[in-house]
Amino acid sequence: MSRTLFRNASIVLPNSVVQGSLVVEDGKIVDVNAGDHASADSVVECDGLHLMPGVIDDQVHFRDPGLTHKEDLATASRACAAGGVTSFLEMPNTKPPAVTAEGVRAKERIASKKSLVNYGFYIGATPDNVDELNTVKDVPGIKIFIGSSTGNLLVDEQEALERIFAETTLPICAHCEDETTVRANAERLAGTTNIADHSNIRDENAAINATRRATELSRRYKHRFHVLHVSTAAEVPLVADGAPYITSEVCLHHLFFNVDDYARLGSRIQMNPSIKTAADNKGLYQALLDGSIQVIATDHAPHTLEEKSQPYPQSPSGLPAVENSLALMLNEVSAGRCEITQVASWMCDAPARVWGMVGKGRIEPGYDADLVLVNLAESRTIRDAEQHTKAKWSPWDQVTLQGWPVATYIGGHPVFQASKGFDESFRGQKLRFDHSRGGYWATPEGIGS
Ligand code: DOR
Repeated sequence: MSRTLFRNASIVLPNSVVQGSLVVEDGKIVDVNAGDHASADSVVECDGLHLMPGVIDDQVHFRDPGLTHKEDLATASRACAAGGVTSFLEMPNTKPPAVTAEGVRAKERIASKKSLVNYGFYIGATPDNVDELNTVKDVPGIKIFIGSSTGNLLVDEQEALERIFAETTLPICAHCEDETTVRANAERLAGTTNIADHSNIRDENAAINATRRATELSRRYKHRFHVLHVSTAAEVPLVADGAPYITSEVCLHHLFFNVDDYARLGSRIQMNPSIKTAADNKGLYQALLDGSIQVIATDHAPHTLEEKSQPYPQSPSGLPAVENSLALMLNEVSAGRCEITQVASWMCDAPARVWGMVGKGRIEPGYDADLVLVNLAESRTIRDAEQHTKAKWSPWDQVTLQGWPVATYIGGHPVFQASKGFDESFRGQKLRFDHSRGGYWATPEGIGS
């Protein structure tokens, strides 16, 4: 048995921050209210630091297998560890795409060899793989590209969508941009090389039409459904009051970038769904604050700078973010725009509950000791050359943030320490999902057991 004492931290509990010491025994949190001198084999001194649950990023594209010149599970998971992300859920648009149980298992085998942090892989829907969607086990859920993006996964025929919502049982998440709207806009703007037209082609209506269509299916078939990367304030009424079936998510780039930034950042902020307006930034932030949207994720989608520097529309959509997401939100805490308990809810507890992740997302006895120690007083500037993602750039290059992770622990083990670097020999574990617990809107009781 091994016991570690995290001494004198500001501990971020689900609804409060308490000053105290936390004990981890054999990888699990056993006491959140221990004395400073509780017995332990090792002690982590936490004076002046906050101890929060490790971040769970439920939407990343890590490119392994098949597109590993952009990223792979070794580089991506190092980026996670450096950014305070202890678990990730990865999307199926790899090469080949993960649209069979065996495709998912193949990715897990790669992760077991390369990943420093914990992992889970969605199975992708195609117009005709309902049987696979029903036989696959131990996955967070089903991903549908209702609008096409990187890769060739697309299900936008009504009949095929109805079949997936009607005949499968796993929770579903979807990329909601309406293909018909996008194609009509692209035709109207054919020949454009203006990057700002990306937001006119993938416009507000594309997002609204697809989110309306998908949330209607979820309600009609009483099927758990998570709307990925909501990008417009106008979609908020469609996802708010989603209980008991619908949850939703916003990404950092849709909170912090808008169309006015194309002039400065060009294709670095070319994303699907496209970034929208300053009013959308504001509306999405408000939706987080009032609980209409529950989850923050990154949609980490790296491409090389060489690929990105092709003229629009050859430039691919996607940006890397996984190592800066927590710092971006801690900076919000430092600026007084939200509380650290809210950040822990949006980035740790909520994703764990949406996907039924057993033992994750909270600091509470019985939960896994996946933790991140953060320094709200540290100010640091993001720089392309210092990024751990293989793509080696960030849309936030040269941006200074206050509030950074200083150490990341999985099962109480330090996988990253700013002062020492990575424990390259550590390997994360395959995540466990229990969908019988009812998802986000059910009570979290028991998830830690
Ligand atoms: O812009 C995007 N790129 N959006 C996505 O949802 C997928 C992604 C990618 O995989 O490159």
